Amino acid sequence: MTPATVALITGGTSGLGLAVAERLMASGVLPVVFGRSGERGRSALKTLGGSAVFVRGDVASESEVAGAVDAAARRGSLRIVVNCAGVPHAARVVGRTGPHSLGRFADVVTANLVGTFNVVRLAAERMAANPPVDEERGVIINTASLAAFDGQVGQAAYAASKGGIVSMTLPLARELATSLIRVVTVAPGFFTTPAVATVPPQAREALDRDLVHPQRWGNPAEFAGLVAHIVENQMINGETIRLDGAVRMSPGLRRHGS
Ligand SMILES: NC(=O)c1ccc[n+]([C@@H]2O[C@H](COP(=O)([O-])OP(=O)(O)OC[C@H]3O[C@@H](n4cnc5c(N)ncnc54)[C@H](O)[C@@H]3O)[C@@H](O)[C@H]2O)c1
Repeated sequence: MTPATVALITGGTSGLGLAVAERLMASGVLPVVFGRSGERGRSALKTLGGSAVFVRGDVASESEVAGAVDAAARRGSLRIVVNCAGVPHAARVVGRTGPHSLGRFADVVTANLVGTFNVVRLAAERMAANPPVDEERGVIINTASLAAFDGQVGQAAYAASKGGIVSMTLPLARELATSLIRVVTVAPGFFTTPAVATVPPQAREALDRDLVHPQRWGNPAEFAGLVAHIVENQMINGETIRLDGAVRMSPGLRRHGS
């Protein structure tokens, strides 16, 4: 009997990651969702039901990600990895109370960039042992952001973390090609998720002014639809795809003369 196709989805307990888990599950893939919060994990399992699995952990932890990769491989053939775990962050380089916290800069880069790389390296090692199906052993999809290209005032740390994900996409794809593994990044624009529910109304109105067409924020299901297409389309590799309705973010809120 052919083993089940398993997808490891980090940050899969909410927002974009949960939508990906739902979408892939609907096409017969077994999702293993990985995240820090047990409460969110239990809630995600209620939404997903069926054979979905939750593994608790931090993407920046070597042992916890290794445990998640083991858990995924025990349930079938780990062929899909979707990195959605990430933290938002906004702070000026020089703010009213002093310079940007160096520790906070490092924390954001650790969660978003180091965490993504940690998952890629450990999952890729396991996927490289898969028998090829249709000349492919697996696909890894990472999540960047428009901030990687059009970072606004206050986004130095977040943009650095997401820019790193964009920059490593091609070298990862080139290297993992020898293992028949593709690597693709999606850079989403504005999507309605729990993370953006905390955006203050003034900042939200400023972002709304950058909308082009459609004049609305994206639905997580639209992000998940692109991920599902990337999984199916072997010609997409080594690329970062903007999913943003033509948004180019403006510089953001600047202070003059202060
Ligand atoms: N929503 C948007 O408009 C938008 C835009 C651009 C990029 N993104 C990116 O998309 C991804 C998903 O964001 P979302 O909007 O669905 O937010 P979300 O908060 O709903 O999902 C992020 C998930 O990642 C988890 N997470 C954070 N740090 C983690 C860590 N160190 N280890 C394990 N899990 C961790 C969180 O607990 C959460 O469940 C993020 O990487 C985010 O930066 C989102």
